[in-house]
Amino acid sequence: MHPSPTLRIHELTAEERAVYASLKPEALPQHVAIIMDGNGRWAGRRSLKRFLGHQQGAKSVQLVTETASRIGLPWLTLYAFSLENNLRRPRAEVSFLMRLLKSYLESNLQRMMDNNVRMRYIGRTRDLPPEVQEKMRWVEDATARNTGTTLTLALNYGARSELVDAFRGLAAEIKQKHLNLDHITEEDVHRHLYTAHMPDPDLLIRTSGELRISNFLLWQIAYTEIFVTERYWPDFRGLHLLEAIADFQRRERRYGGIGEDGGEVEEDPEHIRIAAS
Ligand code: FPP
Repeated sequence: MHPSPTLRIHELTAEERAVYASLKPEALPQHVAIIMDGNGRWAGRRSLKRFLGHQQGAKSVQLVTETASRIGLPWLTLYAFSLENNLRRPRAEVSFLMRLLKSYLESNLQRMMDNNVRMRYIGRTRDLPPEVQEKMRWVEDATARNTGTTLTLALNYGARSELVDAFRGLAAEIKQKHLNLDHITEEDVHRHLYTAHMPDPDLLIRTSGELRISNFLLWQIAYTEIFVTERYWPDFRGLHLLEAIADFQRRERRYGGIGEDGGEVEEDPEHIRIAAS
């Protein structure tokens, strides 16, 4: 785990500061993950081409990351390009998204440095175009020593393929070390995920109103709180991140246990007859 980032609350906008003031700073999520959706519909509503929606979406990425870094959010993970996007979208759109990513990395490095943001990636990134991989490595290396928010972009990512990769890694370890299968634990699976170095998300946000997980972080979101907003990603800003966090702080997390308002706990419920159904 890396050191706690420094807060830069004075850099928030007045509107953001008002929402931030309602938050409990000691109960901030450690990790927020976002399914950025609705770029195409944002553009369609304005009779614009889809690529302009993606371009506007890239601006939201930077602005939301900067707010995250100002409030000291340690981990922010964004679903930027799925394996399914890669396989199922028209080639022209995929190639535009790749050029947009490359240009985003080139033009935002300085802002990431200024905001103390560390850049990481998850996904089958080795299958991305070599010139994109080169830019990715360049930004990852340049920001490696930053201690603020770690921005992880999920690129050519699919949760099922992540699990396949993890099981392959675990199977290889079992074979090499002659491990007993009965001793394999959840922790062993966790160690082989792309996200082994980070905590599971506390909060998952999805924009544009769809009630789906879309093959994102399936293992990691077992106990994550989900927040869905109708807002399209290109209209999503730091203010909306703070509103989602405020909503998160009103939830009661139970991890399969019982909540505070769940009624009296019976010392010995053996005398209670179970009615036949
Ligand atoms: C969904 O919109 C969004 C994506 C395909 C991925 C997100 C991409 C970006 C935010 C732009 C580039 C990102 C970076 C990091 C530079 P959609 O096309 O599925 O929208 P729709 O469902 O309305 O068609």
